[in-house]
Amino acid sequence: MTAQPTDLPAVPTLALPRGFAWGAGTSSYQIEGAVDADGKGPSIWDTFTSEPGRIVGGDTGEQACDHFHRYPEDFDLAAELGVDTYRFSLSWPRIMPTGSGPVEPRGLAFYDRLVDGLLARGIRPMVTLYHWDLPQSLEDGGGWPSRDVAYQFADYAALAVEHLGDRVDAWSTLNEPFCSAFLGYAGGIHAPGRTDPAAALAAMHHLLLGHGLAVQALRANARPSHELSIVLNFSHLLPASDSPADMDAVRRVDGLHHRVFLEPVLGSGYPADVRADTAHVSDWSFVLDGDEEIIGSPIDWLGINYYTSTRIGASTDPSAPTPGVFPGLRGVDLLPPQGPLTSIGWEQYPDGLRDLLLRVSLAAPRLPLVVTENGSAWHDVVEADGSVVDTARVAYLVAHLRAVEQAVAAGADVRGYTAWSLMDNFEWAAGYAERFGLVHVDFATQERRIKESGRVYAETVRRQRDAAG
Ligand code: FCB
Repeated sequence: MTAQPTDLPAVPTLALPRGFAWGAGTSSYQIEGAVDADGKGPSIWDTFTSEPGRIVGGDTGEQACDHFHRYPEDFDLAAELGVDTYRFSLSWPRIMPTGSGPVEPRGLAFYDRLVDGLLARGIRPMVTLYHWDLPQSLEDGGGWPSRDVAYQFADYAALAVEHLGDRVDAWSTLNEPFCSAFLGYAGGIHAPGRTDPAAALAAMHHLLLGHGLAVQALRANARPSHELSIVLNFSHLLPASDSPADMDAVRRVDGLHHRVFLEPVLGSGYPADVRADTAHVSDWSFVLDGDEEIIGSPIDWLGINYYTSTRIGASTDPSAPTPGVFPGLRGVDLLPPQGPLTSIGWEQYPDGLRDLLLRVSLAAPRLPLVVTENGSAWHDVVEADGSVVDTARVAYLVAHLRAVEQAVAAGADVRGYTAWSLMDNFEWAAGYAERFGLVHVDFATQERRIKESGRVYAETVRRQRDAAG
């Protein structure tokens, strides 16, 4: 017998405001499957996963969680967890198979079914327009390093809000442009698998420009209830020492990881030090007059994704290129994480979430924040009785919820927490080897089982609501 979550001392009663929005998240390519159903065009992830050696085990999103067909069951599970919100993304090539031009009505109809299915269960849909599955035809035309894609993205955004805006009011333009630009075009570890630092910086700019143009397009079609946002990812940066050299290494990583996205989105333009640090790989001529104003178009809330910390030191040779995903980074050693690590190898550093929420609050005092992703990967085991006792995930979850509570107590305006993920899914380069779900998925049978962490989450949500009154 598994202990009932109510018996577990782990279930916290959190002091969070009334109306705090509890959620769970997913993304299109990671769960939908049905990659060519109903006229869907290929995305860069369909192409990337078909290339040998890209993904652990040669896995692909072809089936994934078969959410395309099984969404009613998945939404029943979300309802059982008691979430207020469900964060998911639209697949651009399901709606516009070649990214621009003809619209596929059957693709739109699928998202109608999702939105209606959520609303019928009393769950608020939070829609992300772009969670990495660029239509392959747009990549063939140059991809995000090409400026045209930003305008095509805004057209797609306008179409989506025109179609779903009567039922969806929470909109995010991009999920983690850092990953799209730098893992995809500099590190080569995500689609489209390119390793060109200059192209990665251009991709970054056109993603951000696309965000700004999309905010303007959404705003032009928006209803008063609509709330527009972007989702950025952060890591807690830990210097090897407080020596000036190590602290400067942290400044440079912080610049490329965080500030180069956050500052233009908040309306301050690109940080001068990042431009200077990367001048040897790009002249930044991709930034045209007026672009930074567009990128700084006001948003209504900011999505924060947080998982882990990164240890940083200065290398002995300041001019040595730093291998990895940061375009143009030199003279930095990315040091090994310290345990206990999650199964994907990420360090656990819950205080980093508290510090991050406070840092962003200081930078943008009037901007509400939502934790749009947080969670941990573990190699879960299904017991003979069908239970999944994921104690380590429970501990990670509770520690990070406590960090949110502390940030709120210290004044951060955090409106919600969205667990990553509702269910195990296709974890990008790690394929199905890493599980982040509150719900276990058996990928051979598509059977779903709520894990202990899911039950603890549900009980935590219930207790917080009761306490907040
Ligand atoms: C984030 C992604 C999300 C998921 C988690 C583990 O970077 O946004 O899709 O893969 O990591």
